[in-house]
Amino acid sequence: MEARTPIEQAASRRSPDEQRGFEREQVAAHYEHDPEIFSLVLDSQLAYSTGIYLHDDDDLETAQRRKFAHFRNLLQIKPGEKVLDVGCGWGSVMLNLAAGTDGVFHGITLSERQRDVLLERAEARGLSDRITVDLTHVEDLDLAAESVDAVIFCGSIVHMHNREAVHRRVGDILRPGGRLLISDCYFPTEPRGPRDSNATDYILSKAMGYCRLMSLPEELELIGRAGLDVRLVEDMTGSYVRTVADWIDNIRRNRARIEALAPGFARLLQCYMTVGRTSFARRTALEYMILAAKGHADTAPKHWAVTDAR
Ligand SMILES: C[S@@+](CC[C@H](N)C(=O)[O-])C[C@H]1O[C@@H](n2cnc3c(N)ncnc32)[C@H](O)[C@@H]1O
Repeated sequence: MEARTPIEQAASRRSPDEQRGFEREQVAAHYEHDPEIFSLVLDSQLAYSTGIYLHDDDDLETAQRRKFAHFRNLLQIKPGEKVLDVGCGWGSVMLNLAAGTDGVFHGITLSERQRDVLLERAEARGLSDRITVDLTHVEDLDLAAESVDAVIFCGSIVHMHNREAVHRRVGDILRPGGRLLISDCYFPTEPRGPRDSNATDYILSKAMGYCRLMSLPEELELIGRAGLDVRLVEDMTGSYVRTVADWIDNIRRNRARIEALAPGFARLLQCYMTVGRTSFARRTALEYMILAAKGHADTAPKHWAVTDAR
């Protein structure tokens, strides 16, 4: 797989163990900031990933709610099914899926603070008996082969360098009929601008710790090589532009309060999001949702298209 950015090239020179250690430290640093800051930027569920906008007057809450409903529809989680949420954040996706299904959920994150907030939120909603959260890197997960029914990476796989190893692991732990759902950022196959600019490095490295944007065909290839069939790909680039614009508006509104909690962090967030929003608006970066299944998934969604959950 081609290393496109300076930060990826540096990662390629590390051993897999060293890179795992690097990600554990550098990526976690972003998410270890005071959760109150993120509550001043994100929606009420603390979703740190794209919403789905269908109408001109959709707001962030509506777009994130529509995303949760769409995931429920795509994953068709049956009672007792085991769902692994890799990069669960403060629990936006997991808590909503747990409330809307009778599945059993296992989240992993690199941030201790996120884990603690998620466990508190699960307790407050009476969902603790169906939710566990571990502080672990995905490559360190110790799960038996064919022990999981669905795996979700929502805004998280971009932080992982060794994607081939990650997909191999997913292919191994999924049961036949199991589903994989990814929502994340990609580079277009043909570059539409420099990928080694200071602005790109600022986002991928300084702001977020470590990010690797592959092209969509590269990710699909790895999914296929792990033994899964790609069932659906949706372009969410327009929705991501609007999601980030709404986050930037919230930062502007709450700038003084964020600065009081972590001096300099409002500026970092606003800078990286403004550069990111421009890249997605110009389509020099793209956002996709991918659904794949291992073998024959008898739980195919009834409706493939995004539904209007307003
Ligand atoms: C942008 S947040 C997305 C959170 C959540 N999925 C959402 O949509 O609200 C990225 C998450 O991925 C987690 N993460 C990144 N790399 C990881 C890794 N290698 N193993 C486990 N979690 C990881 C981070 O700790 C963080 O919780």
